[in-house]
Order: sequence, then structure tokens, then C-alpha cells
Amino acid sequence: VVDIKSLYSQFGYFTYDPGFTSTASCRSDITFIDGDEGILLYRGYPIDQLAEKSSFLEVSYLLLYGELPTADQLSEFTSSITRHNMVNESLKNFFNGFHYDAHPMAMLTAVVGSLSAFYHESIDVNDPASREICAHRIIAKMPTISAAAFKHMIGEPFIYPQNTLSYTGNFLNMLFSRPNEDYEVNPIAEKALDQLLILHADHEQNASTSTVRLAGSTGTNPFAAIASGCAALWGPAHGGANEAVLNMLEEIGDVSNVPKFIDKAKDKEDPFRLMGFGHRVYKNYDPRATIIRKTCHEVLNELGMSNDPQLELAMRLEEIALQDEYFVERKLYPNVDFYSGIIYRALGIPTEFFTVLFALGRTPGWIAQWMEMSADPEQRIGRPRQIYTGAATRDYVSIDKR
Ligand code: ACO
Repeated sequence: VVDIKSLYSQFGYFTYDPGFTSTASCRSDITFIDGDEGILLYRGYPIDQLAEKSSFLEVSYLLLYGELPTADQLSEFTSSITRHNMVNESLKNFFNGFHYDAHPMAMLTAVVGSLSAFYHESIDVNDPASREICAHRIIAKMPTISAAAFKHMIGEPFIYPQNTLSYTGNFLNMLFSRPNEDYEVNPIAEKALDQLLILHADHEQNASTSTVRLAGSTGTNPFAAIASGCAALWGPAHGGANEAVLNMLEEIGDVSNVPKFIDKAKDKEDPFRLMGFGHRVYKNYDPRATIIRKTCHEVLNELGMSNDPQLELAMRLEEIALQDEYFVERKLYPNVDFYSGIIYRALGIPTEFFTVLFALGRTPGWIAQWMEMSADPEQRIGRPRQIYTGAATRDYVSIDKR
């Protein structure tokens, strides 16, 4: 707490908390994390139970409405999501405007934001029914937009949604099928990806969710708020870490180089960090990483890739780091991103696209948090203060006298 005496008046007391390490910005019923114990609950349900038994759409329902759906509720929700999965045909022009090598997160951020141009006048953020339809729309359209970004990236024609497939099956179909070619969704890939989406679905007030809430607190269009979440997610300290992990594994190259890179990560003069390691909240093994690690082994086994050199490299890296005093003292453990990239790559997804998959998974969390915030009577515009450290008042000097 800092006593602020300004140049002109007494401001009173502010908390100075860079990075908001100990500032609660809201009350929330959605997600609980105990970072010391490595516990993560969505609406009270442990993440490992949801990852094992639920589906991404069921978890999306849980995040939005607070309870697991009955069979009828899930069927109605699924129909609504399926009904809204198309995007306006003119959005193709947006993609065609991007250079062939545009990063898919740049395309995703821009195109999600552009939904606000299609849905603006019709949205009343103060009306619960209007908020609900926005939530359904964004969860429904995110796979279509993400897959279009993928197809643009690899220079193939867009594939329209297929309503007979599951949410995740349809997404895989839009990624990998081609006109006039037979393609069948691989059930191993479908199950693994669905589970990864569940694990990414919410994580309380992380950087991207806080960004969605801060933008949303002004009453802005919800699609614009979600686009701001995509932008915040992209950074390598947040959702971009899954891409950075695979790039790092490639740079390390061989198990024999692991000790050298561990030393680099410990060297404070060297900007290199062990990507996929450490977390602001978890000071224990990230519970999502435990599940992903297991799934990673299963998926690679089932796909006949159990001798994957990158998996071996990742495991060796983890083993050495977890025995190293530097990592032990600082409680740095693998996070959700450490093994997810190895699964994505095994499913045939290029590295640059990994963060889009994180965004797809996080969408129900972002929109559930936005709905909760919009319905909260304590909600006010988010407006942090600062400790001013600049110049005192001084007189303007004309340019010829400077
Ligand atoms: N490699 C090496 N050292 C690290 C790492 C790492 N990955 N992470 C933290 N440290 C060190 C810091 O240098 C610092 O050391 P010091 O006390 O000697 O100065 C100490 O551990 C504490 O780290 P902070 O940066 O203060 O922790 P913070 O909570 O601010 O950062 C973060 C957390 C950004 C996740 C950090 O651990 C990191 O950069 N990790 C790598 C990137 C990553 O994997 N991000 C994904 C996060 S999970 C997610 O978004 C889904």
C-alpha cells in the first residue's frame, strides 16, 4: 500500500501491485484454482474428472450455466451451437485480404473482432437473452473461423461445417478434409483434441480473460472483447507458449544438449527461459499438465509414434529440471503448454497454429466470464490507477529555444 501525495493534493492510499499478483479484480463462481496444491475446479468439478468423463460442449454448458446439463439440455445446447456455426460468406474476403504467410493468431484476432460488425445493433449487453445468444454464437463460430485461418495458412479452399459431426469432429473435418477427397475423422484425434479443449476451457483471471473482462467492462461489443482476449493470449508468456515449446525443443535438438539449455535457462544474463515451465499461480505440478502428459503417451502409442524423439526430449528436460535446485527452489513445474504441442504435432497440426487451438478451447471460459461480469450488479468499468513517476509541472518551451 502506497500513500500517494500528488503534486497538488493528497490522493489517499493505493495498492501498488505490478502484474496484479495479489489483487482480486472480481468475484467469480466459475473456476477455482489452488496453486499450491495443484487443484483446478470448473464450477466445483475437478478437472481430471471432467477431462476423463465429459465432453467439450458439456463443459462449455457447465461454464456458461453453472450446472452440468441434463440430456435434453445438452441436446438443445448442441443444436443451438450447430445452428450458429456458419459465418457470413463475405468473411471469406477478410481471409483473402491476408498475405499468405499471415500468422493465424493475427487472422483469428481480426476476424473474431470483425464479427462485431455483423452483430452490433442487435446486441443488448444488459439483456440476459441477448448475452446468451452471443455466447452460443461465439462458441459455434470459433471452430469455423479457426479452420478458415488454417486453410488460408496452408493455401487450401475453406471447408463448410458438417452438422452430422461432433463439435470437435467437425472442427477436424474443416481442418483436414479437402473437396472431392475422402476424409474420415480419426476417433483418437477427436477424443484427444476434445480433451485438450476441456483442459483449456477456463482458468479464472488469467491475462486473456482479464483482458476480456476489462474490455467488456466498458460495455463494448462482446465479439470485440473476445478479440482483445485473443490478442492477449497470443504472447509467448501466455497461450503462445505452446508454440514456443515446440520451437524450443527443435532448437535443443538432441537429448545430449538438454544440460546446456537448462544452464541457459538459469543464467539471468540470458533471456532464454524454459518454455512450458512455471506458472503465476501453480507452485506445484499444473494438474492439466499431469493429464496432458498421460494423454500424450496414449495418443503417440495409438498413432504408432511412441518413439517420438521430441517426446523423449521433453521428458528428459522435465526430469533434469525437476531435479535441479534452481527449478525446485522457484517451484517451476511443467504447465499446460509443455506437452500439448507434442500432441498437436502428432495430430498433424503445424506449430504456428497451436495458439489458435488454445483460443478455441478458452472461448467458453472467456464468454462465461463476460456473461458473469455483465450480470454482476457490483460491476464497474475497470480502471486501474498508477503511481506517477514523471516530471513535475514545467512550462512549455518553444521549439527554437530547446
Ligand atoms: N525458465 C527459467 N526461469 C524461470 C521460468 C522459466 N520458464 N519461469 C520463471 N522463472 C524464474 C524467473 O526468472 C524468476 O527467477 P528469480 O526469482 O531468480 O528472478 C522466478 O522463476 C519467478 O518467475 P517470474 O517471472 O517472477 O514468475 P511470473 O509469475 O511473473 O511468470 C510465467 C510466470 C510468465 C508463466 C513464467 O514462469 C514464464 O515465463 N514461463 C515460461 C512461459 C510459459 O510457459 N508460459 C505459459 C504459462 S501457462 C499459460 O499461459 C497457459
